[in-house]
Amino acid sequence: MLLTQIDIGELNGLDMSRGFLETLSSLADADLTCDEAVKILRNRIRAGIVTYVARVDGQVVGTASLLVEDKFIHNGGRVAHIEDVATHRDFTKQGIGAALVHHATERARELGCYKAILNCAENLVPFYERLGFQRHEQEMRIDL
Ligand SMILES: CC(C)(COP(=O)(O)OP(=O)(O)OC[C@H]1O[C@@H](n2cnc3c(N)ncnc32)[C@H](O)[C@@H]1OP(=O)(O)O)[C@@H](O)C(=O)NCCC(=O)NCCS
Repeated sequence: MLLTQIDIGELNGLDMSRGFLETLSSLADADLTCDEAVKILRNRIRAGIVTYVARVDGQVVGTASLLVEDKFIHNGGRVAHIEDVATHRDFTKQGIGAALVHHATERARELGCYKAILNCAENLVPFYERLGFQRHEQEMRIDL
C-alpha cells in the first residue's frame, strides 16, 4: 500500500529535527546533532550528492541519496550511484522505500545516466529486483 500523502523532495536543514536522523538510524547509527548534520549536508551539496526525503505531514519518513559520476570510459557516460536508502521504522511496508528508489532512478535517467548501481544485503535482493535491478558482479571492500 502506498501512502497517499507522501511527498518526495530534497533534504533541507529543517528536516534534521523532523525525523531525518531518526529515519537514517534504521540503516546505521546517525548520532549527530542537527548542526553537525547541516554541516555534512553542505559538504554533500558541494560534492554534488543529492539527498532525497519522503515526507508525510512535514515529517521525514524515508530517504535515499543519488550521486552522478561522469566517466572517462563509455564515451563520457554517466553512472548513478544510489546510497543510503532507509525508511523510518514506524513507516515500513507502505511503499516508501520503493517510491524513493524509483524517484532516484528516474532522476538518474533524466540526468542522462546509462545505469544506476547500489549495494545491498542479500535479504533485500527481492526488494530491488521488483524495482527492476538485477544482480551484477560482486562487491569488494577494504576497511581502512
Ligand atoms: C529496505 C527498506 C528501505 C524498505 O523500505 P520500505 O519502505 O519498507 O519498502 P516498501 O514498503 O517500499 O517495500 C516494497 C516491497 O519490498 C518488500 N520489502 C521491504 N523490505 C523488505 C525486506 N527487508 N526483505 C524483503 N522484502 C522487503 C515489501 O514487503 C514490499 O513488498 P510489497 O509491495 O509486495 O508489500 C526498509 O526496510 C529499511 O529502511 N531497512 C533498513 C535500512 C536498509 O537496510 N536499507 C537498505 C540499504 S541497501
